[in-house]
Amino acid sequence: MRLILGLETSCDETAAALVTHDGDIRSNVVASQAVLHARFGGVVPEVASRRHLELVAPVIREALAEARASLDDVELVAVTRGPGLIGALLVGLSAAKALAWGRGLPLAAVDHLHGHVASLYLEPAPLEPPFLCLLATGGHTLLLDVRARSGYRSVGTTIDDAAGEAFDKGARLLGLGYPGGAALDRLAADGDPEAFDFPVARLDGLDFSFSGVKTALLYAVRALDAGELERRRADLAASYQRAIVRALVERTRAAAEQLGHERIAVVGGVAANSELRASLAEAVLAPLELCTDNAAMIASAARYLTPVAPPGFLELDAYAAA
Ligand code: KG4
Ligand code: ZN
Repeated sequence: MRLILGLETSCDETAAALVTHDGDIRSNVVASQAVLHARFGGVVPEVASRRHLELVAPVIREALAEARASLDDVELVAVTRGPGLIGALLVGLSAAKALAWGRGLPLAAVDHLHGHVASLYLEPAPLEPPFLCLLATGGHTLLLDVRARSGYRSVGTTIDDAAGEAFDKGARLLGLGYPGGAALDRLAADGDPEAFDFPVARLDGLDFSFSGVKTALLYAVRALDAGELERRRADLAASYQRAIVRALVERTRAAAEQLGHERIAVVGGVAANSELRASLAEAVLAPLELCTDNAAMIASAARYLTPVAPPGFLELDAYAAA
């Protein structure tokens, strides 16, 4: 076997995957630390780094076992270099360097956002550029002009909160815990999306803004007494979700039209949202298990990069911001 070992530790998921050069996923192991951070209401960077340290070797071992492979089958190590939490990234990058150095293998340093896009290039239904890609995660909301698998050009971004962050903050206001995007999605299924009018700012061009809608939800929550809030929680969730999804869909379609793209793709954690998936029915949606952070997408992106031979990669550093 000739396999790419992917590693991802940019936030609170410790992930390892084995992928072939043709884009077949042989294993894709994700150890989420969400439960560990839940009681703090968000990811605590130092806690995340320490947990990555404990999990990274077992997760790699499990990925190898699931693929029925050994390190002898690995011929390229791929790892997320940024953007993300710097301490968390350094755990993955150091592990990758150590493995590649110890076995004399090349190393591919992958940008996390390129990884999300490359989740679309995996089997069994790999997507061929050109396309317009909406990348919506807890940290980013980007419209990307994708013309080649090796990269992309950003044509729109959020000027304040990311879409996933808006979901998480809304979920918190509704008492759904952290990270609440998926829980808000489930609660919204029982609510009326037209019950509340939560406007989303329309900026010039192709940028997004989600801080206003979050404030609107805050005021709506404050205006209700405890009993009423409990009764109307699902309506609030549905209306809030509707506002965010509408903004995402509108801007994404406008960008595709402006750039002359016939195809739209959606990636990142928010691509798991059921209303977004239903609203952009014409779009190519990343498979659910590849929407949130994972290492198969990192290994996938590495296929379109030039790897660095030992010892050159020892100089590579992580970066926190894109
Ligand atoms: O891509 P991802 O796993 O990590 C980052 O790179 O940030 O995205 C995580 C984000 C979180 O904000 C989470 O609440 C959101 O994706 N998310 C969702 C859903 N599932 C995950 N947001 C809305 N609806 C969902 N079903
Ligand atoms: Zn991500």
